[in-house]
Amino acid sequence: MLNKELEKALNDQIKNELYAAYLYLSMSAYFTAENLEGFAHWMRMQREEEIAHAMKIFDFVQDRDGRIDLQALDKPQSDFESPLAVMEAALGHEQKVTQRINELYELAVKHKDYPTQTLLQWFVTEQVEEEATAKQLVDQLKLVGDNSAALLMLDRELGVRTTAE
Ligand code: FEO
Repeated sequence: MLNKELEKALNDQIKNELYAAYLYLSMSAYFTAENLEGFAHWMRMQREEEIAHAMKIFDFVQDRDGRIDLQALDKPQSDFESPLAVMEAALGHEQKVTQRINELYELAVKHKDYPTQTLLQWFVTEQVEEEATAKQLVDQLKLVGDNSAALLMLDRELGVRTTAE
């Protein structure tokens, strides 16, 4: 049986993951409006990945006989100054998610809930990858600068992403 404080925190994290999906979808729409379909595709894949993260926790709560309590999602940012500003916002968001996962882990340790700790170990590892990928794209966009040809080349590269992992 899940501890109530932990159950609430896991429900909060379902919301955070779904919000991330919503944010990436909004970012995808921005890129489509900017005619950068590769970036838009990449963001759609990212959205799928976040839905999978939310469902991982959703299923876990139910497997532990916990209660799902879905919450309202905030409106995601929809206007951005540039592709670089989008990726910086994505990186900032992932850093916040990492912090929340770490806090959740501390809570699972406090309640000596070993299955939740095991679930969260997957997320701890995943966040390292999530931050590294976002950081890499921030760095690449900094290198691109005002060079449209380089931006289009990067866009083409991102357009071939095939899995939401
Ligand atoms: Fe679910 Fe991008 O972290």
